[in-house]
Amino acid sequence: MRLQFATWPEVETHLERSTGILIPVGSTEQHGPGGLIGTDALVAEAIAARAASEHDRILVAPVLAYAPAQFNLSFPGTVSLRAATFSQVVVDVVDSLAAGGFDAFYFLNGHGANIAPVRCACHDLHQRRVLARPAMAPLKFRLKSWWEFPETDALRRELYGAGEGMHATPSEISVTQAISTAVRSDHTAKSWTPLPVERLRDLAGDAHEDARLHRASFPDGRVGSNSALSSAEHGEALLCTAARELAADYRRFVADPAW
Ligand code: NI
Repeated sequence: MRLQFATWPEVETHLERSTGILIPVGSTEQHGPGGLIGTDALVAEAIAARAASEHDRILVAPVLAYAPAQFNLSFPGTVSLRAATFSQVVVDVVDSLAAGGFDAFYFLNGHGANIAPVRCACHDLHQRRVLARPAMAPLKFRLKSWWEFPETDALRRELYGAGEGMHATPSEISVTQAISTAVRSDHTAKSWTPLPVERLRDLAGDAHEDARLHRASFPDGRVGSNSALSSAEHGEALLCTAARELAADYRRFVADPAW
């Protein structure tokens, strides 16, 4: 079930069976010359929605589509929240849902720069509840980026090898091709500049520099990715694999014996 398509009595019924909720987190930022601005949000939401369509005990919240992405602000169309703002958005979303009875929050992430502020939000939520007098009931959190599920990770490496790179990746673009015809068929930038493994490691979690320097370093917006390898067929396989691994991990997280 998806929260934005549910009624409050349906949410109440869900809460009688499960106090867990799945929150996709994405971004609104350039994804190379052919990738969609909404790629990260679309992919995280599509995987979460697929998992929910196959398991009726999964409730999916609307995707958090605005996120920190200062490094892409030199490309038009990118919207960036300050990291602290995004973290506070997460706190307010969790507080609101917790007021209604939810206590287990699973974030499915589609954007590296979300990792630090979501962890920061979870830290502060825990601390506030511990320090409150009287102390508030504990909440639990899990944050997973869709590409880190083992079989999904193996599949993207098998399909693309070093061409996966780290931004406007063929895997994420493939998923958008599987769910939408909006990705232009001429998106395939012909040239490809692979990045050394050490550089990719240094940039993990989107540890990029100033947006102006970022655009100078990566003029077409891709970061070491050979987006031309993407296809809708790959996207469906990635979507299917990631949704299956997500559902299994979500189930372990909520520890629902009746599943
Ligand atoms: Ni992306």
